[in-house]
Order: sequence, then C-alpha cells, then structure tokens
Amino acid sequence: MRVAIFSSGTGTNFEAIADNKDLKKAGLVISCVITDNPLAKVIEKSKARGIETIVIDKSEYKTKKEYEETIYEYLKQLNVEYIILAGYMRIVGDTLLNKYPQRIINIHPAMLPSFPGAHGIRDAFDAKVKQTGVTVHFIDSGIDTGPIIDQVAVPILPTDTIEDLEERIHIQEHLLYPHVLNQLINKMRSNNL
Ligand code: GRF
Repeated sequence: MRVAIFSSGTGTNFEAIADNKDLKKAGLVISCVITDNPLAKVIEKSKARGIETIVIDKSEYKTKKEYEETIYEYLKQLNVEYIILAGYMRIVGDTLLNKYPQRIINIHPAMLPSFPGAHGIRDAFDAKVKQTGVTVHFIDSGIDTGPIIDQVAVPILPTDTIEDLEERIHIQEHLLYPHVLNQLINKMRSNNL
C-alpha cells in the first residue's frame, strides 16, 4: 500500500509509522511526506529516513483548490493510494476528498465524537472528564467527523497535569495508528484473494 503522510509539525506519529517493522513487512510504502509548514520538525525526520519530503507552502497559493491541485500532482506521480494525516493542521478540501474517497485517514487525540477540533487534549482535560482517548477515522468534509475505524480509551487521573495526559495520549497514538494501518493492509489483501 503506497501512502503519503501529511504532517504540519513534530511528526512523532510519522516516526511511529515509518519505524514500524511490521508495517514495512506488510507492504506499507511511504511514498512521500507532505507538509504545509516550511519549519515543521517532520521535515528533517523524513529526510533522515530517505523519504521524499515535499514542502508546499499554502501561503503561496491563492485558493485551497490550487494548493490541493498542486499536492495532487505529486500524489499522482508517486501513485499514492492512501493519504495518512498525522498532525496535519488544515481542513482537507473537496479537491483531495474527491480524488481519495474513503482513502484519507486521520488520527485525533480524543474519543470522537467528543472533543473534535484543534485542541482535543486540552478540551477534554478542561472538561474534567474521567476518560478521553484516541480515534483513527476516515475523514469527510467536516472537522474530525467521518467513519470511525478504531478507538482506544485513555483515562484522565485526578493527579494528572495536562502534560501527563498529553504523554499518555501520544503513547496510545503511536500504538494505535500503526495497528490500524496494519489491519487495513490485511483487509485489502484478503479482499483481493
Ligand atoms: C497528534 O496528537 C495528532 O493526534 C493530532 O496532532 C498531533 C500530531 O503530533 N492530529 P505529531 O506531529 O505526530 O507528533
């Protein structure tokens, strides 16, 4: 399965996927990393692994359509089958949604449909709920909506600081995302048999 990983920042989920030996064995190929942020830490992490790393600065495009058409040209050239969003801080528009129907996957640091949006961890922490989680889902045109593929619960302990919670969530993200991708590859394989 040939994928592009989209990331705007640190890239720890990218690392968890790229360094997962089972995924590699199963046939996951990271065709490229695409970032909208020229300063993203993921750039050096991706280059260090010899992966084609493409910076497409949204501010250089007048419209989201033009920006996404440029991205699509790369994806087409590289025969990308699935898009994996891993900390990509933009809402994917119709251009890419239409080219990759049910083929764009996102990870969100909360138990969707609870706490969608850019601050899923903080919002759950501030709401003082006892439990939050991590969700992997296909995206649609909404914000953190779309069919849920898998979720894992993460407790919020009374003694937790926000940093404690962030750390616990990230540990689960780094386990769940590779796991879901592995399942997806296996499912694709058995459907082809
Ligand atoms: C993760 O918490 C992910 O759930 C959210 O953005 C964060 C990205 O972290 N969508 P990283 O760049 O993978 O370290």
